[in-house]
Amino acid sequence: MKLPIFAANWKMNHGPTDARAFVKSFLAHYPRQQDRKVVFFPNALSVTTVAEAVRDRPDLAVGVQNIHFEDKGAFTGENSAPMARDAGATHVLVGHSERRHVFGESDAAAGQKVQAALRAGLTPVLCVGELLAEREAGETEAVVLRQLRAGVAGLEAPQVAGMLFAYEPVWAIGTGRTATPADANAVHVAIRAALREAIGERAMGVPILYGGSVSRSNAPLLLAEEEIDGVLVGGASLDADGWNAIVRA
Ligand code: 13P
Repeated sequence: MKLPIFAANWKMNHGPTDARAFVKSFLAHYPRQQDRKVVFFPNALSVTTVAEAVRDRPDLAVGVQNIHFEDKGAFTGENSAPMARDAGATHVLVGHSERRHVFGESDAAAGQKVQAALRAGLTPVLCVGELLAEREAGETEAVVLRQLRAGVAGLEAPQVAGMLFAYEPVWAIGTGRTATPADANAVHVAIRAALREAIGERAMGVPILYGGSVSRSNAPLLLAEEEIDGVLVGGASLDADGWNAIVRA
């Protein structure tokens, strides 16, 4: 059975001081849980702080929000997968919509980053999702599956089976506008089918998260859907008490 996954993407919020205070407050009210997993994605500067704070909690993990696809070198301002690992991260978001649409990251770059993550022993969380215009043009599935296939290109089946995926419709991110649980689930079904085509029955065990204006009130409804295995939360993960309420959903 897949454990539901609650992932917090803090984006460019919570530097080390705030991150430390957040985790302290969160841990005080969130005893160890066997039936769910929580993953924090702080900014790179706060990763070590959070990783150290949750070290004794196997139900909690930490990831970075982005990596460069090279392991080291003259890439000013970038962080590599081995460095993220060294800092205490076990996961990495790849191809988040802000990376794709604010920083112009291509499908191919996301594929290179997935490979870099796997080389370093990090679990990639490949994010896919369509723009509003693409949804309105009836291109949702085509866009999502194109991003998916580019993200896993060249990988062996066991590598894909060890990854996580996140469907985040771009129009639902930070807008307060969530996909209905049924609409989200329909895209998850298409993602599952594409994974099944690629890696067979192992696809059934791969977690597919939903993200985009997830809140305390809609999280239980989304998680009740057959193919939604977890949530990837931005704004509503920034407050320790609010996040606690979501992960207890
Ligand atoms: P919001 O929850 O703020 O819409 O952000 C979603 C997201 O981008 C998570 O990665």
